[in-house]
Amino acid sequence: MAKGKVDALLGIVFGDEGKGKVVDYFTPRYDVVARFAGGPNAGHTIIFDGKKFVLRSIPSGIFDEKIINIIGNGCVIAPDLFMAEAHELEAAGYELTERLHISKRAHLILPTHRVLDRAYEAAKGKNKVGTTGKGIGPTYSDKAARVGLRVGDILNDFDTKYQALKARHEQILRDLHYTDYDITEEEKVWLEGVDYMRKFHLTDTEVELNQALLEGKNVLAEGAQGSLLDIDHGTYPYVSSSNTTSGGVCTGLGVAPNKIDRIFGIFKAYSTRVGGGPFPVELFDSVGDTIRHIGNEYGAVTGRNRRCGWLDLVALKYAIMINGVTDLVMMKGDVLDDFNTIKVCTAYTKDGETRTSMPYDTEGWQPVYEELPGWKTPLTALRSEADFPEAFKQYIAYIEQATGTPISIVSVGPDRDATIIR
Ligand code: IMP
Repeated sequence: MAKGKVDALLGIVFGDEGKGKVVDYFTPRYDVVARFAGGPNAGHTIIFDGKKFVLRSIPSGIFDEKIINIIGNGCVIAPDLFMAEAHELEAAGYELTERLHISKRAHLILPTHRVLDRAYEAAKGKNKVGTTGKGIGPTYSDKAARVGLRVGDILNDFDTKYQALKARHEQILRDLHYTDYDITEEEKVWLEGVDYMRKFHLTDTEVELNQALLEGKNVLAEGAQGSLLDIDHGTYPYVSSSNTTSGGVCTGLGVAPNKIDRIFGIFKAYSTRVGGGPFPVELFDSVGDTIRHIGNEYGAVTGRNRRCGWLDLVALKYAIMINGVTDLVMMKGDVLDDFNTIKVCTAYTKDGETRTSMPYDTEGWQPVYEELPGWKTPLTALRSEADFPEAFKQYIAYIEQATGTPISIVSVGPDRDATIIR
């Protein structure tokens, strides 16, 4: 961490890396925590003072009263869900309005964006993306089509703009013959949410952030989703609709590349994916079920079963390259405690071709595994690297060697102090 710089904390595979667990280690070191991409498709589970919160749009620095929290221009925000999330925090005693600043340039998710999300998914049939249904894709589509509504519009002739965009969506839905929906109740709460948002600082967060950096403050850019869900670098079209990788920090917050210092890439000791799309390491056997069960791999937003598999070094190396990861953070090593051997995917193979770099299209590739010894020791109670079993030390060293990147933090259990800084 350097003064007047931005560090990024990113999930670098398919999201759900368990970032919430290390957030309380990271956030107190920063003056500002900023979200730069995504919206309520995220579900960051954070356990604080014995209470569990699922943050969707609000940055994780909200639990620390010294920290200013920013929802940046690269984000999309659903006023109704934002209001519900904020009310929950307010009820738990957290003050929000002074410490949560929202970019006027962030885009609004309308109720009809969510209907469009469902309609587009239904039209795709078996090729559906398996979205979270939060209207993410349609909202970013409107942004790119230059017809979207932005947070700043709340302050200026909002109703006219809202009705125009809603009418446009209704026309598309009629064209798609997707008319069996009713947003009456949802819209009421959504409009209350719009009103509620007026009491926050709706502002030019890029100016505020750059000013903070000039004053020598430290900023943490908090990622959402994962690098392989990035609209440019993920497993397109089975991706989300924003730039979830480190490049998105610059565009999604309005900070220049030379302001970025460390990039922390979080991954799990194994792989998971929610939703559709290729996933070469997916396990359909009892090993996959065991990982899901022990790792509690069920979606925080949708409750869906997460698809599980062994660690994929092809994907991990690609994500490290795209993001410029300086430090790896490995989560949930303890989930693999009971296995005799641990597999690691080192290459993909298809039609006689084997490759160790990420293909353009990950569909149909089979994993090539190396097998490493399991540690067969419960890790969760361990608090020092010196106590790690030899086979776990080997697993860490193997990943570091293969990726050329240090694993600076290892988490071996759900407790706060089960996070070992190396
Ligand atoms: P969308 O972001 O709702 O459009 O969903 C696109 C894809 O990204 C789907 O496969 C989702 O399951 C996945 N996705 C979106 N947000 C998250 C997340 O926070 N964690 C894991 N997967 C996500």
